[in-house]
Amino acid sequence: MLTLHTIAELRAELGQARRAGRRIGLVPTMGALHAGHRSLIRAARGQCEVVVVSIFVNPTQFGPAEDFERYPRPLEKDLDACRAEGVDVAFCPSVEEVYPAGEVTRVTVSRLTEVLCGPCRPGHFEGVTTVVAKLINMVQPDVMYLGQKDAQQAVVLGRMVRDLRLPVDVVVCPTVREPDGLALSSRNAYLDAAQRRQATSLYAALTAARERIERGERDSAVLVEGMRRRIEGAGPCVIEYISIVDAEDLSARSRLSGRCLMALAVRIGATRLIDNVVLDVPECAR
Ligand code: PAF
Repeated sequence: MLTLHTIAELRAELGQARRAGRRIGLVPTMGALHAGHRSLIRAARGQCEVVVVSIFVNPTQFGPAEDFERYPRPLEKDLDACRAEGVDVAFCPSVEEVYPAGEVTRVTVSRLTEVLCGPCRPGHFEGVTTVVAKLINMVQPDVMYLGQKDAQQAVVLGRMVRDLRLPVDVVVCPTVREPDGLALSSRNAYLDAAQRRQATSLYAALTAARERIERGERDSAVLVEGMRRRIEGAGPCVIEYISIVDAEDLSARSRLSGRCLMALAVRIGATRLIDNVVLDVPECAR
């Protein structure tokens, strides 16, 4: 595996592969790799001849009061994980390489970023779209792999790729969970033992809502209230939002039908956790 730090090195290396017609897969990450990232890498490994994992803690997607400084950066461990998964290139650029001195350019996706996590994290998605547009430009992959765990991010980046006519396919891979249902996230490491137990309430609430939908409930407000009660009942927390929206355009759904995204963000102590479930809801005469 090559570990590269500059765009020039990356272009030299991937140019050869591209000219030889080899399919290039990109897994963009901020490091602190866990089984969720590894599932993305495995998907890329299964479908592409050259697998590139970018490891870059992107400063522009963190708000001033967020955890940029303390975000975990176990680079050697991450590189070992990449090697173990058969990654060809780990791309680990510096902040200056990605954001050259004097830079003033941002990529903005409107509307889709104004709901769910958008209002709670001003500027976050602009940071994500900007860095991912740059990474796509640097790597020029055929396919980019994203996790369903960050459902809104996947929708926003899919839209950005279509709107900018970027020649890359986006593959969204299923959320990987702990045996008790907690979605894997690098931020789970911040939870103490009690908070970790409490955090299972997020997926438990989503699962209970899904069961109610399967039994015929279609009223969003009723389902959201049920989830809220379950999560608040599990212990002290701040619910940023619990929403049910159209899975493609993220517009609000008061009655469920078609492909719906149930998504939530909850702070337990200082740790912000997100989770979601996507489901195809048939019309129901109830
Ligand atoms: O999901 C992440 O880890 C980040 O938002 C991403 C896509 C790597 C951009 O920094």
